[in-house]
Amino acid sequence: MVHESMVHDHTGPIPLSRDLAVEARHLTKAYDGHVVLRDFSLDMRPSEFVALLGRSGSGKSTFLRVLGALDGQVDGHVRVPQRRAIVFQDPRLMPWLPVLRNVTLGLPQTREVKERGLATLAEVGLERHANSWPRTLSGGEAQRVALARAMVREPQLLLLDEPFGALDALTRIRMHTLLQALYQRHRPAVLLVTHDVDEAILLADRILVLTEGQISLSVPVDLAPPRSRSDPRFAVLRRRLLTELGVDAD
Ligand SMILES: Nc1ncnc2c1ncn2[C@@H]1O[C@H](COP(=O)(O)OP(=O)(O)OP(=O)(O)O)[C@@H](O)[C@H]1O
Ligand SMILES: [Mg+2]
Repeated sequence: MVHESMVHDHTGPIPLSRDLAVEARHLTKAYDGHVVLRDFSLDMRPSEFVALLGRSGSGKSTFLRVLGALDGQVDGHVRVPQRRAIVFQDPRLMPWLPVLRNVTLGLPQTREVKERGLATLAEVGLERHANSWPRTLSGGEAQRVALARAMVREPQLLLLDEPFGALDALTRIRMHTLLQALYQRHRPAVLLVTHDVDEAILLADRILVLTEGQISLSVPVDLAPPRSRSDPRFAVLRRRLLTELGVDAD
């Protein structure tokens, strides 16, 4: 596999085109002979917000791991930006580190990084919890810390694997608003894996459905903000996506 980054080293691999945030071509991935991604290709533009739907086991997380370079065993060609961040359903905080240290984990512990960490915590509304222990946070707060840990890296590509899947409905709505605000301010390219069709329609510029290792549907979301579930076009798109997912939409 070729896993290239947006390197500005002219002796290195060809840099990712400035017009693309993701260039994935002809990816094929199998586990023990079971093909998960089948000649799968996807381009994403910088600052494009793409939602990826698909039945359980269809290969969504596998693809995200490939983009995050967390899984090196894949045939094909991937180019992604150097600054990437990933958020999972589980916030994966280090229990022995206070919140701010979790946010700046892996970065040099300079004054500038600490200040950036605090500013990012303020962006997710948790500045007052900078010195708290992760175990004292609610599930929604912990996930906001995970978002801050991703955003503090100023990612050009933000990978989200069912980030709100474990949260209650009200917290999830608040997280949608927060993610939208972070996205508007920082404009990373976003790939959001979700099972929540409404979430995909509310947030994404484009929605993909992954079926048997390939994109079986790719639809732009042309609804002007603020998007509303009561918009008849919302319902039409929801029905189309649910049908593609093999769910009876009635
Ligand atoms: N490390 C692994 N070893 C073996 N098989 C794996 C491994 N990781 C994933 N798989 C298999 O690859 C397929 C796709 O898994 P993946 O986790 O990408 O699905 P998914 O679309 O994210 O599903 P879900 O919606 O349930 O999270 C599944 O059949 C899974 O069992
Ligand atoms: Mg998954």
